Amino acid sequence: MGVYVADHPLVAHKLSVLRDKKTSVKDFRELVSEIGMLITYEATRDLPLTTRIVETPICKAEVPTLKGKKFAVVPILRAGLGLVDGVLRLVPSARVGHIGMYRDETTLEPHVYFCKMPKDISERNVLIVDPMLATGGSASAAVSEMKRRGCKNIKFMVLLAAPEGIQKMREDHPDVDIYCGAIDEKLNENGYIVPGLGDAGDRIFGTK
Ligand code: PRP
Ligand code: URA
Repeated sequence: MGVYVADHPLVAHKLSVLRDKKTSVKDFRELVSEIGMLITYEATRDLPLTTRIVETPICKAEVPTLKGKKFAVVPILRAGLGLVDGVLRLVPSARVGHIGMYRDETTLEPHVYFCKMPKDISERNVLIVDPMLATGGSASAAVSEMKRRGCKNIKFMVLLAAPEGIQKMREDHPDVDIYCGAIDEKLNENGYIVPGLGDAGDRIFGTK
């Protein structure tokens, strides 16, 4: 399993604004989308290419083009929804599957409560998106659900990851690469990432 941290000053700067508790809901939402787009750039680096012929104003040329259109983005509800727009800006033809997860507030155990995927999801390159990888419970359960549906090529994209979550993914799904904006220090006793950015869903949707 590879863990790729976006190594770019724009991502680092935007993440710092996101962490600030004074950042408004509107700015937070826009930044989540922008950072999601920037990390998508890295997460799609190995998409296969083929060639086609175009006629430029000068001559005919054989030029690169994406091979097939088999890509799907899968947000983990709710907070993952904030990243979809950024992915679609770079891969507009991507299909979108939704997976709903909630965490039991005392045990932090994740449960799948909703799953609606494109029919041919097992044939697609799947990018699961969620702003936060904390204990890794939600991420691991989401990947297991996608594998149960026959998906073989799965990547996971997050804004912030905790070492604990990365370790869980390494144990449960060593075949899944992780793309993230930053790796933070640790989890606190409530399962929040430290220093983190708080509750991503609440900050995207303004529910607190
Ligand atoms: C958050 C976050 C992840 C999960 C990460 O969602 O968006 O899905 O927690 O935590 P874990 O790695 O310990 O599983 P939450 O359960 O708060 O739901 P929400 O998206 O509705 O806010
Ligand atoms: N979920 C969040 O939204 N934030 C955290 O820090 C951990 C889990």
